[in-house]
Amino acid sequence: MSSTLYSRLFLDLAREIESGRRPVGSRLPSIRQLSRERGISKSTVLAAYDRLEAEGLIAARPRSGYYVIDTTTRDAAAPRLPQTSQPECTPLPVTSGQILLDIMQRGTAFDLLKDTHHEQGNTALRRCLSRAQRRQTLSAQQNYDEPQGSERLRLLLSQRLMQGGSRIGRDELVITGGCQHALMLALMATTRPGDIVAVESPGYYGVLQLIEALNLKALELPSSASHGLSPDALELALQHWPVKVLVVSPSYGTPTGACMPESNKQRILELMTRKGVPVIEDDIYGELSFSGLRPPTLHSYDKSGSVLLCSSVSKSLSRDLRVGWIAPGRYLDQVRHLKLVTTLASCQAQQEGLAFYLEAGNFDRYLRLRRERLRIQYRELRELLHQHLPMLESCSQPRGGLSLWLELPASIDTIQLYHRAQTEGLVLTPGRLFTAQSRYGNALRLSFAFPWTEQRQKSVTKLGMLIREQLSQP
Ligand SMILES: Cc1ncc(COP(=O)(O)O)c(C=O)c1O
Repeated sequence: MSSTLYSRLFLDLAREIESGRRPVGSRLPSIRQLSRERGISKSTVLAAYDRLEAEGLIAARPRSGYYVIDTTTRDAAAPRLPQTSQPECTPLPVTSGQILLDIMQRGTAFDLLKDTHHEQGNTALRRCLSRAQRRQTLSAQQNYDEPQGSERLRLLLSQRLMQGGSRIGRDELVITGGCQHALMLALMATTRPGDIVAVESPGYYGVLQLIEALNLKALELPSSASHGLSPDALELALQHWPVKVLVVSPSYGTPTGACMPESNKQRILELMTRKGVPVIEDDIYGELSFSGLRPPTLHSYDKSGSVLLCSSVSKSLSRDLRVGWIAPGRYLDQVRHLKLVTTLASCQAQQEGLAFYLEAGNFDRYLRLRRERLRIQYRELRELLHQHLPMLESCSQPRGGLSLWLELPASIDTIQLYHRAQTEGLVLTPGRLFTAQSRYGNALRLSFAFPWTEQRQKSVTKLGMLIREQLSQP
């Protein structure tokens, strides 16, 4: 994809929108149509649309296309976006105290309230899993699976990964026990104790925990709540520190839900490739865009095998399946060996069941519904925040994923709030969890992964009351 073509298209369209030639409410040509008309690739058009969306000029409507939106009234009542973070850009060891570990254990299990409604799980998935169990042979029970994982599942996954622009052969994939395991293998393959790992800040606490367990150092980098990791900050960090690997989550990463523009992905990859430093890409939320348009992976731009792509079905299908994967690029041999060392093998019946599910074409249908639900639940959460947390200083505006990031007035301490909320039966996820530094003390991550039942709505009302209670204390 040419960056000049992409920026020319972006500028042309932005001008047409701003001059009124493309009025508010009008629909932009489809990606395929514009790609044909201009003789450019679909990814170039997608990148330009992505940028227009990030600039707040257009919005995607599910299964309908992109529309020009009114920038003067757009989310006028919404709290502003959080500022780009400013962590201390020095490599530091991670030492999480007991409080953070306790919070993590609770927060990993659920968000706000323990799920009390007993809706049945995905029936088609359950059927495929039991079919796999029923068919299990004696030989499968008495032998470990091959270390790389089921060949059939790897083939199906490699076909699926093409949707994100990643061309990965089945022999280049390794099945893991979830994405956390994939991230661990990726870090073990690319680092030695004492090495520096560059990460987004705020960023996924599971990566910080791995950095701590593997005796590495975290170099936290400024990141924006809408565009993710700052390429400028990365460039500066690479000049100052011998970074061994970067861990990044370009699509709707937790906690902010930011989505990295295509031009930033390309620049980040260029910077890393020039230095010969690998990138671990966590793509676990890649399939959860509200619009249904799957962002290309950073991996899709990689030509040198420097990106280790990690993901799983935990966020898109089932957390309980414990099936993930890694495409380790030039680290394939090390990762294959490390998988053997860390778990010997994956469960054959689970992999088989997932393979049945994918083969039956159930996943895309399920994902369409799930994305639509997530979009509605996100909007409902925004409305609840508007009603019950008017004191918000800022709030991220994700276009996919499962969570948003909000900042409360500076006097609020969300760890204290966490303890107070616990006495009311609520579990919060304080901002401190997403850094190894003493930061984000007034921030919270809120998830919109679950429907806003009456009880969950009440929990947001209660949260508002608890915040007001803390604000009124001297
Ligand atoms: C960004 C990110 N990566 C990885 C994981 C771990 O995923 P899995 O359940 O597949 O191990 C999570 C889970 O919360 C996550 O948020």
